[in-house]
Amino acid sequence: MGLKHEVFEKNSLILTVGILVTVAIGGLVEISPLFYLESTVEKVQGVRPYSPLELKGRDIYIREGCYNCHSQMVRPLRDEVERYGHYSLAAESMYDHPFQWGSKRTGPDLARVGGRYSNEWHVAHLADPRSVVPESIMPGYPHLLEYRLKFDNIQDAMATHAAVGVPYSEAMIENARSDLIAQSNPAHDGAFDLEERYPKAVVADFDGNPETVTEMDALVAYLQMLGTLVDFSVYDAAENLR
Ligand code: HEC
Repeated sequence: MGLKHEVFEKNSLILTVGILVTVAIGGLVEISPLFYLESTVEKVQGVRPYSPLELKGRDIYIREGCYNCHSQMVRPLRDEVERYGHYSLAAESMYDHPFQWGSKRTGPDLARVGGRYSNEWHVAHLADPRSVVPESIMPGYPHLLEYRLKFDNIQDAMATHAAVGVPYSEAMIENARSDLIAQSNPAHDGAFDLEERYPKAVVADFDGNPETVTEMDALVAYLQMLGTLVDFSVYDAAENLR
């Protein structure tokens, strides 16, 4: 019987080429639609890019390795939702480069920690965790109160984020420095513009030291916005699927 596949079965080189061609077709079918879709992440009302101060705080979060102990993704499981709040949406980390989902939880998930504690609590906790949570094993970061925040590169950083798709406008980049200072100083007259550009941005002298913008100011500003952008009292998952 002259079976046509005999040629593949008897010649390993032809078989290998045949496998490669088949796998390549399968791969193309999976991957090529992604090049034509504008986005695989649905936009959700309220999600905005980080303000300059929050963006700097995020840099410090990464520099200090907070992600080694903290995840930032509430999984859609009942126990997680009851503990942390609404499960995380893809859109909530769409402007994160790199994302901070994480898989290690020595400490609690931080995706919805914003607004849960006062600024004073965060400052005390970060400087000396055991001063507010006696059984805590988290290390202290008191140096953040001393270090002046370096933000010479904030405009370049935002332009770089814009280059990879974060919708920072020219006005946002142009005003980055004054927006950053305004967010850490309620007496600054730029606060109004800041809130126009970054709705829900928390304006405060986070570390209680009005003279200097410290790294503590930036980190607490970042923590206080985590998970607060989407209003889940009006968010409708079904509507977003359409
Ligand atoms: C060695 C692991 C470890 C590291 C590193 C770490 N944490 Fe923690 N974190 C914990 C643990 C454990 C807790 C729970 C006890 C407590 O509240 O202190 C915690 C709690 C917290 C909380 C309170 C969360 C809640 O919902 O109660 C915040 C906020 C926090 N950490 C922020 C940070 C930040 C910011 C950094 C980096 C500057 C950091 N952590 C680094 C282990 C860690």
